[in-house]
Amino acid sequence: MNAPQLLVLPGSLRQGSYAHALARHAAARATQLGFGAATVFDLRALQLPIYDGDLEAEQGVPAAVQQLQDAIQAHQALLIVTPEYNSYPPPLLFNSLDWLSRLSENRTAMKPTALMSSSPGQYGGLRALNQLRLFVQGNFQMLVQPQQFALGRADQAFDAQGQLQDARAEKAVDGVLQALAALTNQLAR
Ligand SMILES: Cc1cc2nc3c(=O)[nH]c(=O)nc-3n(C[C@H](O)[C@H](O)[C@H](O)COP(=O)(O)O)c2cc1C
Repeated sequence: MNAPQLLVLPGSLRQGSYAHALARHAAARATQLGFGAATVFDLRALQLPIYDGDLEAEQGVPAAVQQLQDAIQAHQALLIVTPEYNSYPPPLLFNSLDWLSRLSENRTAMKPTALMSSSPGQYGGLRALNQLRLFVQGNFQMLVQPQQFALGRADQAFDAQGQLQDARAEKAVDGVLQALAALTNQLAR
């Protein structure tokens, strides 16, 4: 198999989001660590309405959901980077994935997946990370690897160029990506 391609999904709507900064950093590192390419997919751009059963009954699943499905199918591995809102992943992630679950075919089953989180708090969104693991494993059958990373003090973590400033954080991100590349290659054999 050619080197696998990685799809990175940051879960924030915010301009200046730390989850987006971590996602961009991870995508740049991924191509040095066993991935042939890495795409950061902007869930904001889909402009999905809040899931509403009446809307679905009247208009069906929004066409933009298919873009997410197609992107997942076109990449061999997934990295989801979540912020933390009140101990949980934010509405953007749940809403996008809830809509995705309304498509008839599940393209996420057994997809090698890694999770990261970021927060200005000291735990880096670890609680949201663990909730996200349950959500995507249980409902989407993603194959979520044990290696994960929560970036604490995310508001101080990046320099003006968007580079992580802490060598330990850099190493942790690299470790997660290397494990994901290895898992993806192993499954492709
Ligand atoms: C509604 C709300 C709830 C939040 N709850 C938490 C929380 O439980 N833990 C935490 O570490 N940060 C919490 N935060 C702070 C976020 O981590 C912070 O706003 C962060 O910048 C959001 O991620 P982003 O930078 O990727 O947009 C919360 C923020 C908001 C707006």
